[in-house]
Amino acid sequence: MEFNRRNFLKLTGLTGMGIVFGANRAESNRPYHKSRTQTFNMHGYAAPKLDTVRMGFIGLGDRGWGNVNRFASIEGVDVKALCDIVPHRVHSSIEFLQTHLPHHNPDAYTDGPEAWKQLCERDDIDLICISTPWNQHAEQSIFSMEHDKHVYVDLPVGVTAEECWAVVETSEKTRKHVHMDCVSCHTGTLATLLNMVRQGYFGEILHGEGHYAHDRVSNTEGRWRRDPDNNYWFGFRPWRLQENVNRNGNLYPAHGLGPVSQMMGLNYGDQMDYMVSISSDDFTMADKMKEIAEMDEYYRPYVGLEFRGNMNTTIIRTKKGRTLMLQHDISSPGIGQRFDVIRGNKGMYKGSPDRISTIEDGLVQGEEFDALTEQYTPRITKVFNEKRSQATTDFSDAGIYSTVTPEDWRLIDSLRNGLPTEMNVYDAALWSVISPLSEWSVVREGNTVKIPDFTAGAWKTNKRGMDVSLREGGTTNLL
Ligand SMILES: NC(=O)c1ccc[n+]([C@@H]2O[C@H](COP(=O)([O-])OP(=O)(O)OC[C@H]3O[C@@H](n4cnc5c(N)ncnc54)[C@H](O)[C@@H]3O)[C@@H](O)[C@H]2O)c1
Repeated sequence: MEFNRRNFLKLTGLTGMGIVFGANRAESNRPYHKSRTQTFNMHGYAAPKLDTVRMGFIGLGDRGWGNVNRFASIEGVDVKALCDIVPHRVHSSIEFLQTHLPHHNPDAYTDGPEAWKQLCERDDIDLICISTPWNQHAEQSIFSMEHDKHVYVDLPVGVTAEECWAVVETSEKTRKHVHMDCVSCHTGTLATLLNMVRQGYFGEILHGEGHYAHDRVSNTEGRWRRDPDNNYWFGFRPWRLQENVNRNGNLYPAHGLGPVSQMMGLNYGDQMDYMVSISSDDFTMADKMKEIAEMDEYYRPYVGLEFRGNMNTTIIRTKKGRTLMLQHDISSPGIGQRFDVIRGNKGMYKGSPDRISTIEDGLVQGEEFDALTEQYTPRITKVFNEKRSQATTDFSDAGIYSTVTPEDWRLIDSLRNGLPTEMNVYDAALWSVISPLSEWSVVREGNTVKIPDFTAGAWKTNKRGMDVSLREGGTTNLL
């Protein structure tokens, strides 16, 4: 592989980031602030209802292939078009649908890295699902909205603050929804905890913690051996490896942050104010490159490069004086972690394993935890479980991303019932911008950085989002 640093920076979108041009920026701690008036408030906005949600998919890798299967097995979805630069990924997905759900008959777009634009230009698609490498998400989301499509995008929605702003402004201008998929309070214990928070079980919420700890490095066979039958891909992913060179911060905050943000009502009732971020050195990646370069010369250009520090810790303070702690570590061995802590003035929850401790009930764990949380199971979970029990399609053997989640189901249900989506462009932008802001802070030895308010002050009056009580809708079935 020819490794050219300029191409690499362009490829990974780093050229527009503080990490590269940071030294030239004014040393203000508001580098990404924008003074603006909201042109239209997408929070609480309901687009005209769609009986059938006609979908196009861009990127059919590990995640995207599963996205097709999940959405294809929801009532009222029509899969119209699939796009990937690797043709066999598109054709195998079409074959899979023809075998299992033949009422879908999508067209294939495989003609190079710009073919996705033709898919977006069609006038018979309502929702585009984007599952490409991170540095393509903002461009593809904006182009989709400008061509009259709602957007479902895998995280993040942008890799720079400028991209996040551009996505917000396009959504407001076009009145198209942006739903960024991540771990949210739609599902299982998280939905129940959100219900408990809202019923005041933990008292007034004062702190939350969410992480992305996931060892993507140690297992050489599973992560680094390139697969000649799959475009020479490797488990870590070539583009993801490149994201970890020369970027230093929390590159993937949304999985842990989403639930905390919803429990705190960020963007509706409270807002992030400022943050600090600190990274450890790298203690594994540089050594790993030396090790695997012996196995495969493909990795030789990575030997001697500087890698992201293993552990990044970011601390955020909200306008209402609450705190969040987020950690990111995908390169040292350990126990996987996502949403972890929610703490109020009457008690707290801590995950892995699930535990609650409150002034009133003391320590609650194991079967007692299950019994307590059962009482707080929200309607969204009950209705979704009922729909699932009536479904006849089972893709649980087709990969971990192929089984419909309450989040997918509720998105389609909201579009079909003409309801606001549970998560919107302000959530997507806020949960994504933490990455470039963390890079800004890390490179300045943990300086404080102000977090942009994408709602332009509307957070003070926005109605509560994420309706776990399912007051409206819930009518869509699973196939
Ligand atoms: N929400 C979740 O739980 C979750 C889980 C896994 C991955 N993800 C996210 O999904 C996204 C994809 O991750 P992945 O692991 O599937 O990566 P991947 O590399 O397996 O898939 C990316 C796909 O995009 C295709 N692609 C690249 N450029 C393209 C272009 N210009 N046009 C069309 N196709 C193009 C690639 O060929 C590949 O098939 C990432 O944003 C990742 O963070 C989310």
